[in-house]
Amino acid sequence: MADKQWPSDLGPVACIVGARPNFMKMAPILRAFSAHCPAVPTLLVHTGQHYDKDMNDRLFVDLRLPHPDINLEVGSGTHAVQTAEVMRRFEPLLDAQRPSCVLVVGDVNSTLACALVCAKKQVPVVHVEAGLRSHDRAMPEEINRVLTDQLADRLYTTERSAHDNLAREGIAAERVSFVGNVMIDSLLANRQFAHPPTQTLQQAGFDPALVSDPQGYGVVTLHRPSNVDQVETLAPLLAVLSETAQRIPLVLALHPRTRGNIERFGLAHLLCSPRVVLLPPQGYLEMLGLLAGARLVLSDSGGLQEETTALGVPCLTLRANTERPITVDQGTNTLVGSDPLAIRQGVDQILRGAGKSGRVPELWDGRAAERIAADLAPWLLARHSASRH
Ligand code: UD1
Repeated sequence: MADKQWPSDLGPVACIVGARPNFMKMAPILRAFSAHCPAVPTLLVHTGQHYDKDMNDRLFVDLRLPHPDINLEVGSGTHAVQTAEVMRRFEPLLDAQRPSCVLVVGDVNSTLACALVCAKKQVPVVHVEAGLRSHDRAMPEEINRVLTDQLADRLYTTERSAHDNLAREGIAAERVSFVGNVMIDSLLANRQFAHPPTQTLQQAGFDPALVSDPQGYGVVTLHRPSNVDQVETLAPLLAVLSETAQRIPLVLALHPRTRGNIERFGLAHLLCSPRVVLLPPQGYLEMLGLLAGARLVLSDSGGLQEETTALGVPCLTLRANTERPITVDQGTNTLVGSDPLAIRQGVDQILRGAGKSGRVPELWDGRAAERIAADLAPWLLARHSASRH
């Protein structure tokens, strides 16, 4: 492909990012196109779903993501408002740019919104990280996953279980390809640049000795509405974290939603301990350093389940289900939900040295984006030439 001409009437691959977990997935894809298929033009579109410095700007720098060609600046809103606003602003862009396809990643509102606009305009949709299912429709991301996959023309998966999910939903196998995990491409490409945890603490004004504790330290992230939006759930979760901090120092990187709710519900006292480090959302390289050095991770994030599996760090996922079952079956992940007793038992097990060590899943080898570029470029060319005959 490298030496082939891109037809002048075939538009760019429009790559969509909207929120934090999209950035680490898109960075290797853009790099793979420029390294392996340099003839293919790309266009980076940011919907602006995440907008503040901590959630956005630092990650762009850390991941060496180019400045977006276009920013739709949608900002916050209810799910309906946010989704509708992305659609409304994306449609004229699609008309003006006429991309050859629109490539979306993951499961955030921007993923579905852009896919839906494309499907109505018959612009091919490419979904990276397709087929993951928590089977929990109360999760907004699950709705985004199911619908985006229904709309997608090419679907790239991270684990084989995704193929069964897609087959059950009537999606033809020839549209689906197992390529591995682009998020792990980012992790492997950046591991050498990860910031030491002591430096991260020092720069945030905390005692770096906390992450040199002989017990090690734990990393916590929490942001799912189901965990943080009701005081009845959030208060016991923070109480068990506070209790855990007596045994092992904890570093929390707080999402704005969670920080806001802790203040609103008057729960800040629960985290007021010299063994709890409260940080704002971290840059990618800071977070990678914190995770790689951790003895345990407690989180309700999707991505952290995969990153801890790739790093071999035991992870307790504060959710009742996961859309990434391979992290439990093969990796270091254990589902503990939001029940304090289960969380306590999980922590006990890890601190006794009986945490999971796991193994790295198939094709999580740092080359997933390369496989996507190698598959997508000829697919677009073949589709283009078929449309002319
Ligand atoms: C979104 C994604 C979720 C992803 C998460 C990671 C959806 C449905 N959810 O959830 O899949 O795991 O991002 O970060 O798309 N806020 C800020 N600054 C920002 C962004 C948000 O202060 O840059 C605040 C806003 O006040 C907002 C709240 O955080 O009300 C939640 O943001 P939102 O974009 O609605 O969803 P997330 O919870 O971040």
